[in-house]
Amino acid sequence: MRKILICAAIAFAAVSCGTRQSVPVYLDRTKPIEERVADALSRLSTEEKVALLHAQSKFSSAGVPRLGIPEVWCTDGPHGIRPEVLWDDWDQAGWTNDSCTAFPALSCLAATWDRDLSLLYGRYIGEEARYRKKDVLLGPGVNICRTPLNGRNFEYMGEDPFLAGEMVVPYVRGVQENGVAACVKHYAVNNQEVRRTGTSSNVDDRTLYEIYLPAFKAAVTKGGAWAIMGSYNLYNNQFNCHNHRLLDEILKGEWGFDGVVISDWGGARDDDEAAANGLDMEYGTWTNGLSGAPSDSYNSYHLARPYLERLRDGRADMATLDDKASRVLRLIFRTNMASEPHYGRFTCPEHYQAARDIAAAGTVLLKNEGGVLPLDVPQGGKILVVGENAVKKMVVGGGSSNLKTRYEINPLEALQEAFAGKAEVVWERGYVGDIGRSYNRVDTGQDLSESRDAQTLIADAVAAAEGADYIIFIGGLNKSNNQDSEGTDRIQLDMPYGQQAVIEALAQCTDKLVVVNISGSPVAMPWEACAQAIVQGWYGGTESGHALVDVLTGAVNPSGKLPFTIPLRLEDGPLKTERQYPGVQEDGKPYYQEYYDEGVFVGYRWYDTKEIPVQFAFGHGLSYTTFSLSDLKVSGRKVSVRVQNTGSREGAEVVQLYIAPASCEVERPAKELKGFEKVTLKPGESKVVRFTVSDDDLSYFDAPSHKWVAAPGEYGVLIGTASDNIVLQGTLRK
Ligand code: GLC
Repeated sequence: MRKILICAAIAFAAVSCGTRQSVPVYLDRTKPIEERVADALSRLSTEEKVALLHAQSKFSSAGVPRLGIPEVWCTDGPHGIRPEVLWDDWDQAGWTNDSCTAFPALSCLAATWDRDLSLLYGRYIGEEARYRKKDVLLGPGVNICRTPLNGRNFEYMGEDPFLAGEMVVPYVRGVQENGVAACVKHYAVNNQEVRRTGTSSNVDDRTLYEIYLPAFKAAVTKGGAWAIMGSYNLYNNQFNCHNHRLLDEILKGEWGFDGVVISDWGGARDDDEAAANGLDMEYGTWTNGLSGAPSDSYNSYHLARPYLERLRDGRADMATLDDKASRVLRLIFRTNMASEPHYGRFTCPEHYQAARDIAAAGTVLLKNEGGVLPLDVPQGGKILVVGENAVKKMVVGGGSSNLKTRYEINPLEALQEAFAGKAEVVWERGYVGDIGRSYNRVDTGQDLSESRDAQTLIADAVAAAEGADYIIFIGGLNKSNNQDSEGTDRIQLDMPYGQQAVIEALAQCTDKLVVVNISGSPVAMPWEACAQAIVQGWYGGTESGHALVDVLTGAVNPSGKLPFTIPLRLEDGPLKTERQYPGVQEDGKPYYQEYYDEGVFVGYRWYDTKEIPVQFAFGHGLSYTTFSLSDLKVSGRKVSVRVQNTGSREGAEVVQLYIAPASCEVERPAKELKGFEKVTLKPGESKVVRFTVSDDDLSYFDAPSHKWVAAPGEYGVLIGTASDNIVLQGTLRK
């Protein structure tokens, strides 16, 4: 009997195997992606290939229903998953399951100088995107902080291409672990919001290759980014969403990018160029919210009917179409049809904790006279908190990175929580900033309306200072127009809304004034002498209040370092003329012309080389402990240095390596960051940090030969903890 059963089982198995439908290669998750791409492409009609290349709604593009190839869904943004919007509008759709974890904005992530945190950040935001069934995360942004006034500096990673490049790579890898494409933006030389859709950035090659491309190149060649977003502006008078030089020659040619180029929303502007110059997916054209919405608008996209017409009459070639379609299919087989399924997670405790940890690690202690921080408040004491940014919800607004969250802890709430039962925490408004309460129909629920005038507000704050052990002023910028916001640039470097007068008044009331500047970009601090302590806080996201208070109370020892220079005055910077910023009109040219005449001298490259004093330097940040650097050894290209915690509590230091150039035929910056390592040490503990200096680290880009050149000679090896705090120096020869 047993033999009969075994034979029957074998026979059944044979029959079932023989009749099982063979899975087409493109659906077979065990097959290499390129085989699946080729197989899928071979099955598509011309119309189906074209349909892959352009939006069908505000944030999605078509798949191939006939073959079961799914649609591609994109989502903003770089620091959280945007609430679901209407099919064809910017306004949110009113879903009730899309309140995300708001992570800190990316200038905060950059300020951590911590590659491991960047990987964690990318991994977790990628989990949130995957859980929300999104295939492309429209972020991170890595445009260089060329002017402190750029409205979107808060979304980017500072003024130095090496720091931005080192920090973007782990973020991209983390996102893409989840089968979600990171779409690195905005490519390229998109360094302002003023007239962003009608200004040509005119940049020499050396500046382009040394300053504005490296972070994008790192994201592609080291991070393996699956998508790049073309920017709204023009580069040398061709729109970047279909710029032949940037997309075909550099991105896809020199860097071998095999992913998709996605337009910014409405960034595609021309039928012929969109067909020919490296654009693979077109979004945002002709839809509500950007411009007119003619009927049948999605078929009027440049890569829709106009492209089909060009393919049929021979003005566009099928090989280019197949390349575009193959890239989109590759994106699909990397994401929603990946060989291994991904599920993600959403608003889980780990994500909230990571948001808090990253925000704290990015917080920068700029000044701490007499050690007034961490807060030392006697039992039954009193803390006066002054400033709108102590209470204002900051995850709402700012443009496309606008988020909806279940909660957002503000600094006042966190202080009241931390000192409950220990000290009285009172709040005064101090000034009126932005009383707006919603963006894209995401509502903060806050009523910040105010009837008192500026003098009364200051008088009330001063009166409340009576008996306070500490005064903590929490101000800075916000996400409204002409602040840290997409679509507009700031109009001044100083704090707006009369905040300086408030700070100066409070300085008369205490010898323990802590000023917290919350912003995503540099803010002038002419009031610096008024404050015993100054903290650079960021848009820290859902857990921002907790993160800031963790640092103020000493629960977390600050270790953030500035990712950009804080100048004394705007006019000290390298942008001296209108043609440099924000651009000028020129006869015969339809778009504004902006010339990057300052060349590579951006940020500390400018201030250090020209020996211009600044308020706080790139790379600066203090700790509640102290560190020493010693034993610098330079042997060939190997550099080592010992860092020791010489204080009384655990902390982290960022050891920074700068290279000073050998003399050569071009003017080079006095120093350039070429290495950094964040080291956590217990009191008394030390560690040897090691760097290897490559030829690339010594090189400048020689435009005539189109080559990186490391001129022979002696180079300075500068080791420090800020660009203006070089502690040890050595040399090496090339
Ligand atoms: C916006 C932004 C871009 C964003 C896109 C979609 O205009 O420039 O960063 O991802 O459109 O919202």
